[in-house]
Amino acid sequence: MPVEHFQEKKFDLADLKNIPEDQIAEHLTLYAGYVKNTNTLRVKIAEMVKSGNAGTPEYSELIRRLGFEYNGMRLHELYFDNLSGEGGNPDAAPNIKKAIENAFDGWDNFQNHFTKTAAMRGVGWTILFQDTVSGNLSVHWINLHEDGNPVGFNPLLVMDVWEHAFTVYLKPTQRAKYIEDFCANIDWEAVQARLK
Ligand SMILES: [Fe+2]
Repeated sequence: MPVEHFQEKKFDLADLKNIPEDQIAEHLTLYAGYVKNTNTLRVKIAEMVKSGNAGTPEYSELIRRLGFEYNGMRLHELYFDNLSGEGGNPDAAPNIKKAIENAFDGWDNFQNHFTKTAAMRGVGWTILFQDTVSGNLSVHWINLHEDGNPVGFNPLLVMDVWEHAFTVYLKPTQRAKYIEDFCANIDWEAVQARLK
């Protein structure tokens, strides 16, 4: 069976509040690299298996890299898909708002929990997940793209807090402003649609 090639997804990111177009354009270029590298790795790994080269040191390094590139592609798709210039108002998505209020004992607690996680020192991702076994919602910090994603959990709200997500228009010390800008553009209806 031929290896499936992924295509870059298109996102509706016109008119985001405060996050300028050149910031998004730069970030989409980085995303395109993850799509390309995921495709390249999948082809190379399949070729190595077929040619009897699985188990070599080169093969091991490609396998180690696969989770980084694959998750880098998927996490960026979830991130861009949960942003919209029309976003920022959780009242537009009452089901997810209620689920969050129940899970975190009120909206303000969740807001504080999520944004303080996003403000942690270091670069990575802050993600609100749903545990598909128990239904619980929880906020997690992901270091590298492949490192720390809880098994089988469903990502509901995905925030990129690598510095490349904001340093086209802000300084590295201005992450708090980026967190504010991200929250002003969260497409809560898209987040709600992910709820199972
Ligand atoms: Fe990113």
